[in-house]
Amino acid sequence: MPEIAYVNGVWGPVAEAKVSIEDRGFQFGDGIYEVIVAYDGRPFLLDRHIERFRHSAEGIQLHYDFAARPVEPIIREGLRRCGFPDVMIYIQITRGAAPRSHLPPVGMTPTVVMTFKPLPRLPESLRERGAKVMTVAETRWANCYIKAITLLPNTLAKTEAAEGGYDDAIFVTAEGEVRECTSSNVFIIHDGHLMFPPRNESVLHGITQSFIMECAEAVDMPIREQQVMLKDLRGADEVFLSSTLQEVLGITLIDGKPVGDGRVGPWTKKLYAEFVARSRNARGAVAVAAPR
Ligand code: PDD
Repeated sequence: MPEIAYVNGVWGPVAEAKVSIEDRGFQFGDGIYEVIVAYDGRPFLLDRHIERFRHSAEGIQLHYDFAARPVEPIIREGLRRCGFPDVMIYIQITRGAAPRSHLPPVGMTPTVVMTFKPLPRLPESLRERGAKVMTVAETRWANCYIKAITLLPNTLAKTEAAEGGYDDAIFVTAEGEVRECTSSNVFIIHDGHLMFPPRNESVLHGITQSFIMECAEAVDMPIREQQVMLKDLRGADEVFLSSTLQEVLGITLIDGKPVGDGRVGPWTKKLYAEFVARSRNARGAVAVAAPR
């Protein structure tokens, strides 16, 4: 079955999909994106992803008419065409193509790109042992709530982590405030309380993060959205990360030192079990059901 791409109304194999070299996404990183999963052919939490997409578009004044060019039918068509049960859907909208100029011309036509690929699964061994992460200096811009395609600090931090033998990196400010990982949010657990950094403009407001809050309520776990400092991170009983692709992944080593007893903790396991149960059942997964 093919990995397929959609570019401004044209469908084809991913390897053959093309955009202009004058696209502002290519030249300026001037665009926004979403990563959505479909479980068993159904997009998971689609409405929340579309809502955040609109918010990101507003954040960079990218004038995409979501009413006139809705993305949901394209997603449904892509799911039908690719035929994979569990799918990783990537959507990117850039400001469009124009001769290079820092000031974007008025009235550009945005470029819409989507790809549909089989959902990559984390190795069970990684889930079992938990991720090893390092902390890195927060070098990103002030508007990380916008899911912008300008991800150079994120990719550099991820590379630095990999070179140091780590699975990922957590951005921490000069003042010691914990922000998030390179492509996921961070949670800490202390005395059975779940805590995560404020959902302000400095972090992406994770869709998985919001879903985990619902899972935590379901298992009677108190939740606190509050400033998390490096010392809180290091002294936590448990730490985990969350994202659309990684779901809930325990973190067991930070900067070479074990978190708690160095194993994925009981609360993390409990939340992940709740996450799996809710995301794979009809109610959780069918935010908008896709015809198969
Ligand atoms: N990244 N923080 C950052 C910086 C992210 O890039 C992501 C997601 C998250 C988690 O958001 P969500 O739960 O909505 O996936 C947090 C996607 C998966 C990516 O870039 O591939």
